[in-house]
Amino acid sequence: MVTTPSQIQSSSPSLPLPPFPLPLAQELLSTYGSPLYVYQSDRLHQTISQITRAIPYPRTQFQFASVTNGNLALLRIFHEAGWGLHANTPGDAYLGLHAGFHPDQIVYSGSNLNRTDMEQLLNWSINTFNLDSLSQLQLFGEVYGEMRGKGKKGEIRESKAPLCVGLRLNDPTLTGDSRIGVRREEFPEAIAIAHRAGLRLTGLHFYRGTGTNATKAFIQVIEPVLAIAQTLPDWEYLDFGGGFGYPYHGGGVAFNWEEFGAELSYCLNQLKRPIRLVIEPGRAAIAGCAVLLTQVVSVKWQNKKQIVGTDTTVANLSVPAVHGGYREIVTWPEVEASNPDSLIPTDVCGNTTYSRDYLGKNCQLPALQMGDILAILDVGAYGYAMASHFLHRPRPAEVLLKKRSHRLIRKREDYSVLLNNQVL
Ligand SMILES: Cc1ncc(COP(=O)(O)O)c(C=O)c1O
Repeated sequence: MVTTPSQIQSSSPSLPLPPFPLPLAQELLSTYGSPLYVYQSDRLHQTISQITRAIPYPRTQFQFASVTNGNLALLRIFHEAGWGLHANTPGDAYLGLHAGFHPDQIVYSGSNLNRTDMEQLLNWSINTFNLDSLSQLQLFGEVYGEMRGKGKKGEIRESKAPLCVGLRLNDPTLTGDSRIGVRREEFPEAIAIAHRAGLRLTGLHFYRGTGTNATKAFIQVIEPVLAIAQTLPDWEYLDFGGGFGYPYHGGGVAFNWEEFGAELSYCLNQLKRPIRLVIEPGRAAIAGCAVLLTQVVSVKWQNKKQIVGTDTTVANLSVPAVHGGYREIVTWPEVEASNPDSLIPTDVCGNTTYSRDYLGKNCQLPALQMGDILAILDVGAYGYAMASHFLHRPRPAEVLLKKRSHRLIRKREDYSVLLNNQVL
């Protein structure tokens, strides 16, 4: 029996339109093949500038959270726009350095690094670390001390910026039920550990959890977070996440950047001390600029439902099936015109027999034919970044679109990728 992810929901009857005309979609697929991730550069630039303008506080630095998308060409767009990079893992930092970010422009705030990870980040001269437990802080102090103390000149590359060490906050009333972070009652011990290692705790990092569109949920925690930050004697910067939502449902509630930015700026200005603000959006910055194009390879009917097979799979776009969530699936008016009667409840299926291989369930789509193109919207965040070789299909190509011109920014994989690192 087929089990379906309960979170995949119906589309609304009035479908949004794909972001570019059908002839361009056809041209893209005939040039690069299908399925295909297509990123719209204009849209990305607009979002970056909207978020940047929304926070008037003068000492704000924006760090793109590359956990959501590690394509170098896209990271470069953030770099050129004056943003830094937020690294969740050493791999994020590695990609950031390859995209051209200076180590000082990379903020690491993650969890559960081992000694080798910490040495690696320090060797790359990353110098902002928001750590999430007392033991991570202890280990960091040891590693940092050893790397300097052994006089390994060049191990820690010279950086103009001072080392910044912060604590990730865990407070169930503010951060929800999370494994990440340090409790307030642990702060005195954290300060003592840092002191013994010759470090100062200058940062507080707050992360509310991913994908929240409720602006008030962020606004109402600003003051309590600031109050907690002020209990750190050496406090110099606030990192406020991460976690800002994106309205995947066309016409649904959207995070209000202007309202949030005005409130946060007001509260920071009230402090009358030059606190630096770090904002590290991932999803909110990049989700909306991309679509995954896929072609119909099979159509059948089960009762009154249209069962459409496509040439992509949840392994190419794992978010909806694996983590719940919703991505709108649309087609072009020209396709609809071939069957103007009505929209039909449609399951959009992947090209494997995996029981969760649904790109969308109960979508409202016109009657489709072999070769028709579908666009899965808003796949810029946690799309390609979470694509895997589960089901043993090579991953799609990625293309950057500038108005009507386009260029390849990641090659399509072929089957040889499945042999990588295998030892017979
Ligand atoms: C510390 C931190 N910052 C930022 C992000 C990006 O989050 P989002 O895509 O929800 O903005 C993450 C995601 O895991 C994170 O852990």
